Amino acid sequence: MANRLRTGFGSIAAPARGVLVVFADDGLRFGSATQALLKPAGDLVARAAAADNFKGKNGAALDIVAPQGLKPSRLIVIGVGKAADLEDFVKLGGAAMGRIPAAASEATIVLEFPGGPMKPEQAADVALGVELRAYAFDRYKTKRKEGEERPAQRRFTFGVANVQAARKAWSEREAVAAGTLVARDLVNEPPNVLFPEEFARRAATLRKLGVTVEVLDERAMKKLGMNALLGVGQGSRHASRVVIMRWNGGKSGAAPVAFVGKGVCFDTGGISIKPAGSMEDMKGDMAGAACVVGLMHALAGRKAAVNAVGAIGLVENMPDGNAQRPSDIVTSMSGQTIEIINTDAEGRLVLADVLWYVKSRFKPKFMIDLATLTGAIVVSLGHEHAGLFSNDDRLSERLAKAGTATGERVWRMPLSAEYDKLIDSKFADVKNTGGRMAGAITAAQFLQRFVDKTPWAHLDIAGTGFSSPQTETNRGWASGWGVRLLERLVADHYER
Ligand code: BES
Ligand code: MN
Ligand code: ZN
Repeated sequence: MANRLRTGFGSIAAPARGVLVVFADDGLRFGSATQALLKPAGDLVARAAAADNFKGKNGAALDIVAPQGLKPSRLIVIGVGKAADLEDFVKLGGAAMGRIPAAASEATIVLEFPGGPMKPEQAADVALGVELRAYAFDRYKTKRKEGEERPAQRRFTFGVANVQAARKAWSEREAVAAGTLVARDLVNEPPNVLFPEEFARRAATLRKLGVTVEVLDERAMKKLGMNALLGVGQGSRHASRVVIMRWNGGKSGAAPVAFVGKGVCFDTGGISIKPAGSMEDMKGDMAGAACVVGLMHALAGRKAAVNAVGAIGLVENMPDGNAQRPSDIVTSMSGQTIEIINTDAEGRLVLADVLWYVKSRFKPKFMIDLATLTGAIVVSLGHEHAGLFSNDDRLSERLAKAGTATGERVWRMPLSAEYDKLIDSKFADVKNTGGRMAGAITAAQFLQRFVDKTPWAHLDIAGTGFSSPQTETNRGWASGWGVRLLERLVADHYER
């Protein structure tokens, strides 16, 4: 996707044109460098603030067009409330970006508070928020309404006290921003464009960042015994794929951390076909796989000191003369037999084989899978938290902390032998649905039967991966959820 936004850091100096963005606290105070920039405008800001009842409250903004005495075409003052209370600088960057008119081709954002300049990490967080908010998936739009034309290029400069230090902090955040946008692009793409083979091709472009990418075709999967995954894809004209991505930035030979993603490029439900309403959302049923690709992009992009494996199962779930039926029994790679009760519970079938494969081949420190797995988790948690299911308390706590820090929050749900019983099958070792009750839990119990003793966490992102609330950092459909969470988890605990 052509990114029309170019961002960079520079020292704080009066811009000659474009939009000027500055921050003020709830006493309408500015930092000293900002104050110097605004000096030629005299009492303009004070008068405009009084006229507009702007008090510098967090979330408020003052917008002055053609500010008298200043060269910029527009001055935007963003309120931060009590500067010392500010915690989420990513959100602040998103909010600032949201105030800059879409038609603006040039902007200067002065990263300074009344108390002084922002720390380099805070400045980088603001830049991250700006990039996330600036994202739009518009590659299939050939027309623009009059007055909604966009500049071909946008150039934004962040004015900072220490340019060197801010650039260094940004070089890490930049990879995270890029990874999140990669994930969003994949989720937003329509399924006639992004079918399993095309998804695999896009994942393979990670090679240019130094990631080792292997693509398993159906023959290779058959040989490995991945019949649970292959059964889901057998009703589709598109061939299934498994992609293994490896980033080796850690100690040579050290056990990797592993991430597994559900990549159902379109989920019709198969023979247990879904109702028509909102079925179009099921192009996003590969958000877990998209997150894994985005995460690998972020880790490789910032040369993380970790060995990481990303594995994604890519299929399309279609009804067809060759589609799998309710009551079919398949033998998974693990050797366990699975009775198919409902062909719409397909994600767990895909994950069963990929989890088993990753566990057996890589013996990872932990496995975390991400999947838009159940409508039930959306009923339980809405769009605010992803469901977290895990056999490991330490991993769960670390995920919860990373969730609070990044705003990609998780909520732990239970697993137990009693729930596990609900998926015992009359005819096979396990069945792929557990009845009407506790649907997100029985789905997780199913997955747990394919991870053995490996420390494992399952993130049910059916409510957070797409169609989630419009926030300061996301105004699109796909959220790219999980890239920031898992990047933070790795950065905080698994780099040497
Ligand atoms: N991809 C869906 C889950 C889903 C629903 C994700 C809504 C995002 C939004 C999944 O494959 C599915 O169909 N799950 C079924 C399971 C049921 C048949 C046991 C569900 O949740 O209804
Ligand atoms: Mn389904
Ligand atoms: Zn699905």
